[in-house]
Amino acid sequence: MLIAGAILCLVASTAPAPALSAGRTTFSVSSFGAAGNGIADDSEIDGDVLAPPGMGYWPKARRPLQWLNFKWLDGFTIQGTGTVDGQSTLLRSVSPANVSQHWYISGVKPTLIRFYSSFNVSVRNIRITNSPQCHLKFDSSGGIKVKNITISSPGDSLNTDGIHLQNTRDVDIRSSSIGCGDDCISIQTGCSNVHMKNINCNPGHGISLGGLGKDNSLACVSDVFAEHINVENALYGVRIKTWQGGKGTVRNVTFSNVRVANVATPIAIDQFYCDAGGGGARCGNRSDAVGITGVAYRRVAGTYTYQPVRLACSDARPCTGVSMADVRLSPASAAGAGGLRQPLCWKSYGEAMGMIEPTGIACLQRSNGFVMPLTKPFNYTC
Ligand SMILES: *[C@@H]1O[C@H](CO)[C@@H](O)[C@H](O)[C@H]1NC(C)=O
Ligand SMILES: *[C@@H]1O[C@H](CO)[C@@H](O)[C@H](O)[C@H]1NC(C)=O
Ligand SMILES: *[C@@H]1O[C@H](CO)[C@@H](O)[C@H](O)[C@H]1NC(C)=O
Ligand SMILES: *[C@@H]1O[C@H](CO)[C@@H](O)[C@H](O)[C@H]1NC(C)=O
Ligand SMILES: *[C@@H]1O[C@H](CO)[C@@H](O)[C@H](O)[C@H]1NC(C)=O
Repeated sequence: MLIAGAILCLVASTAPAPALSAGRTTFSVSSFGAAGNGIADDSEIDGDVLAPPGMGYWPKARRPLQWLNFKWLDGFTIQGTGTVDGQSTLLRSVSPANVSQHWYISGVKPTLIRFYSSFNVSVRNIRITNSPQCHLKFDSSGGIKVKNITISSPGDSLNTDGIHLQNTRDVDIRSSSIGCGDDCISIQTGCSNVHMKNINCNPGHGISLGGLGKDNSLACVSDVFAEHINVENALYGVRIKTWQGGKGTVRNVTFSNVRVANVATPIAIDQFYCDAGGGGARCGNRSDAVGITGVAYRRVAGTYTYQPVRLACSDARPCTGVSMADVRLSPASAAGAGGLRQPLCWKSYGEAMGMIEPTGIACLQRSNGFVMPLTKPFNYTC
């Protein structure tokens, strides 16, 4: 499918179709194979786009990794007041007779909307909900604008990232609300010039760069700017996570004007990242790591339930150029039952300025600009 200058409108059945400017093409969502009621292949319905409620409803040979998959587009817009609903209810709310058809049981869990190798794409105003996996994904793309969208899934739905970016540059995500069971916005290798503004994340795992460098892979992420971010009821606020043994760099990342409420760990760098599925063998310390340099936290304020700051950088490649300015964090009244942890700065170099509360979170080690921590030369280019 190669489409230029197209607009896909998702219009709730009660709303009139918006006027389209001349020279553009409108595609009915039904022509992409969307079913109206989630089971039957009917196309009379002009409203919300419903996925079948589980893989059991799909022919076995054709179970997709993505549900709505757009490839090789240039200049494409999805907009409207409609909803794309993955109908992935939590397993516990499925009747016993239908459990085998549930997404989680019946095999591959598809991403709800995915763009691949697409440029100048805009997604506006729609609502995306109950994905069995990631809600909106951009892969190997560029010139992406996402504005005024709502993503919602329960906080305990597994692996349901809100927006997922990989190998994608020149991205602007703004004025959107994202609630899900995993990362609110996830930024993976190959991403650069990513701007996020006015984003609400609640609930979920916050804004996350990584996990990068899994299985000794090369990871490059640069020029990420997140401002006016509000994170509530989440595991993390703003996080960078890398696996031991990776290569590459994360550089020039700024988190500015971040408000947190009821967030377990608002500020985190974890160079020892290893998820449960990773297996112990992958989790040991290695002599290499994805380098992290130039990370700024400016005006981060609010409440935490576990540990205010956790900067755990690798012994092999310490984090450099980390700066904090005006960071004020206090325990939430409903702090976690496990008790609170002191802030941690391990092998993290940089400086803290302005108002820092409590002062203990400014645990960065000074590197005065001349004395750099000992690091091995990089033998690759990002
Ligand atoms: C944002 O999206 C909602 C839902 O589609 C819509 O009602 C509202 O008008 C949009 N706001 C702007 C500023 O476009
Ligand atoms: C179970 O699945 C059948 C289709 O196989 C469907 O007609 C029925 O409504 C489902 N029941 C529930 C409780 O989801
Ligand atoms: C994206 O749009 C801009 C401005 O309309 C245009 O200059 C550029 O060539 C487009 N990029 C691609 C990859 O099509
Ligand atoms: C850092 O990233 C921001 C946001 O993408 C960009 O505007 C700025 O030019 C970058 N700074 C450097 C020194 O590359
Ligand atoms: C890896 O190194 C860190 C920091 O030196 C240390 O705390 C941790 O215990 C080590 N992990 C393993 C598995 O050796």
